[in-house]
Amino acid sequence: MKKIGVALLGLGTVGGGTYRILKQMKEDIMRTDGVEIEVLHVLERDIEKAKALGVDPAIVSTDINNVINNPDIKIVAEFFGGIEPARSFLIASLKAGKSIVTANKEMFAKCRDDLEVAAKEGNAGLYFEASCVGGVPIIRTLQAGMQGNRIQSIMGIVNGTTNYILTKMSDEGLEYADVLKEAQRLGYAEANPSADVDGFDSMYKLSILSSLCFHKRIPLDKIYREGISKISKIDIDAGKSFGYTLKLLAIGKKVNGKIEARVHPTFIKNDNPIASVKGSFNAVLLNGDNVGDIMLYGRGAGDLPTGSAIVSDIVYAAVQSEHKLSYVAPTTDEDFNTDFESEYYVRMSVKDIAGVLAKITTAFGKYGVSINSVQQNASEGVASVTFMIHNTRESAINKAIAEIKSLESVNTVDALIRVL
Ligand code: NDP
Ligand code: HSE
Repeated sequence: MKKIGVALLGLGTVGGGTYRILKQMKEDIMRTDGVEIEVLHVLERDIEKAKALGVDPAIVSTDINNVINNPDIKIVAEFFGGIEPARSFLIASLKAGKSIVTANKEMFAKCRDDLEVAAKEGNAGLYFEASCVGGVPIIRTLQAGMQGNRIQSIMGIVNGTTNYILTKMSDEGLEYADVLKEAQRLGYAEANPSADVDGFDSMYKLSILSSLCFHKRIPLDKIYREGISKISKIDIDAGKSFGYTLKLLAIGKKVNGKIEARVHPTFIKNDNPIASVKGSFNAVLLNGDNVGDIMLYGRGAGDLPTGSAIVSDIVYAAVQSEHKLSYVAPTTDEDFNTDFESEYYVRMSVKDIAGVLAKITTAFGKYGVSINSVQQNASEGVASVTFMIHNTRESAINKAIAEIKSLESVNTVDALIRVL
């Protein structure tokens, strides 16, 4: 039986889940894939984490040379998080001819070019299934299941932490800060939770996923990003009254030959299947020109779901006779449309005086922004006004809102949320 030595970098949430699955599934993998996966070394600072998992302390260190210089280690799986030392350790591993498996979407999205150069130099493989959408096998679907299509769009919930927070706020009326703490305790959140709630994590994932959809590099600065930290329960409840659920969506699509890539909170109709995706679950809807719609759904975060994706990559890398890199062509500014179109929900606080709505609607009209419906609640001289806006361009609504904010009778514009 073929034996493949593996090194694990990090024994936190994902590393721990991976080790447990490798142990649990060892015999099954030998039977079904004809390969014995053996963990030969672990890099981890906290020896207690290793002991708690039953890892022999003799194979635990913090020295990457114990990995690079061991010829029996053929695959290096990384779950440190952050850029360094993950990047350097993985580049050194690739150059030494070891394939790498990573869950680190930030590092992969930012350092992919360097990793690919090193992979070519070492004739080694680059596997990153766990970097996007946790346990859902979306990378392999895009790489090996969609060749008969030109993908037109990808849209979905790709961050478990924010979906967990929005679900708890919406269904149980809980406060944002309390739910975030719970997501951290459950191991969903990034080391710095701003990566989740400010949309960075979704942006990294969208860059990776849309590059595989469109076979083009999607630089991070071409992705519009907005997180959920300003979302209030008032808007979640207002959305409900219009028949909408609020989700943090990642959207990549081709419009008139240009690519649009964006991450932002979005109201979606309650009957859209993505509206019913709750908690740490993720869902991604792909549209291929021949197959039509495909939806993938599953846990987007957590130790065992992510460990499942890592183990799948380790076994896949172990049985390949030749490693292949995904084709992604370079892009220029001309490949992207950043002034995208959407419908909008706008909530503002205004003085409850005659003529205020006329001034606001005049400002919308000046930039060609068309109003679909208006709701108003007034009390003690202040009115909260909510507008639903027909499809319009970002540039138009932003100009209109800037002008509305400058009106003397407008106190604040409190929310501007895109509507699907
Ligand atoms: P954790 O913080 O739980 O685990 C990271 C582990 O790596 C810690 O045990 C840490 O030790 C160790 N470590 C970090 N740097 C070093 C180093 N230089 N030498 C030795 N040990 C080191 O993070 P997660 O497991 O949650 O996440 C890891 C990666 O997986 C991230 O890139 C994340 O984005 C990604 N990911 C996470 C998912 C999740 O659900 N948690 C899902 C999908 C991807 P110490 O505690 O001492 O710093
Ligand atoms: N913090 C990430 C999330 C982990 O919540 O989705 C999975 O990538």
